[in-house]
Amino acid sequence: MFKRKDLLGIQDLQREEISTILDTAESFKEILTRPIKKVPTLRGKTVINFFHEPSTRTRISFEIAAKRLSADTINISPSTSSLIKGESLKDMAKTLEAMNPDIIVIRHSAPGAPHLLAQVAKFSVINAGDGAHEHPTQALVDLLTIKEHKGKIKGLQIAIVGDILHSRVARSNIFALGKMGAKVRLIGPPTLIPPFIEQLDVSIEHSLEKGIRDCDVIMLLRIQLERQKRVFFPSIREYARLYGLTPDKLIKAQEGVLIMHPGPINRGVEIDPRVADAPFSLILDQVTNGIAVRMALLYLILGGKR
Ligand code: CP
Repeated sequence: MFKRKDLLGIQDLQREEISTILDTAESFKEILTRPIKKVPTLRGKTVINFFHEPSTRTRISFEIAAKRLSADTINISPSTSSLIKGESLKDMAKTLEAMNPDIIVIRHSAPGAPHLLAQVAKFSVINAGDGAHEHPTQALVDLLTIKEHKGKIKGLQIAIVGDILHSRVARSNIFALGKMGAKVRLIGPPTLIPPFIEQLDVSIEHSLEKGIRDCDVIMLLRIQLERQKRVFFPSIREYARLYGLTPDKLIKAQEGVLIMHPGPINRGVEIDPRVADAPFSLILDQVTNGIAVRMALLYLILGGKR
């Protein structure tokens, strides 16, 4: 069951709702392999993509997802909107509402921006990443990718490595993996692990070699320099030496371990190119699954039934 006007985060989703989204996404994957990859399901609906921060994967996959379902799509960026003339987010929402769109997909550097939009407007809102708060659609993509490759999520040991402090992907994945019964271990330098995070039922390890030993999946994160207001480690080189996943560190992990990364990757920093391009790396599978998950969300939010 999924009966929501908006998707603002994973924290307030029920396990059953997550399962519905994943099952729906699995069924949509078939459409993406057809010679004509389009169905009329959302004909007459309008989806606006408003990305206030840069994005390749999320923005393009939402646009493709909407087009595959025959919805009309419109893209707005800060430089092409009246926000640069001083219009507030609330006034922009009311203006868009007057044009009667069905869904706004929003990415914003301010945590809570999608929640504000959802409160003031009648259209549906999907959070495509708000500051360091949540990135719910990325976590759903990651769940689908793990389920496809491991056949299950429950009981798996998942490591999330790197800049946890500034990562909305980490937060959404901690909620999502926990709700689906996986065990989450956060690995990184103490300065990049948020205080009190263990209250979210995660374990913490500061040594990469020790932390990855018994993991089924290793999820690497980019260092979010754009969100770091002070220095959290001596240098990128030092970080890469201790926390960059190289083939010789990966030898310490168990056989069958899978590598994930939400992207964009910084080769040679958090991930060695030989790991990023290895057959056991799911980075591009995550990108492919992004379209099916976003099709499922547009469909379910606009009233579709499983
Ligand atoms: N994973 C992710 O959000 O990538 P983009 O910033 O390219 O959308």
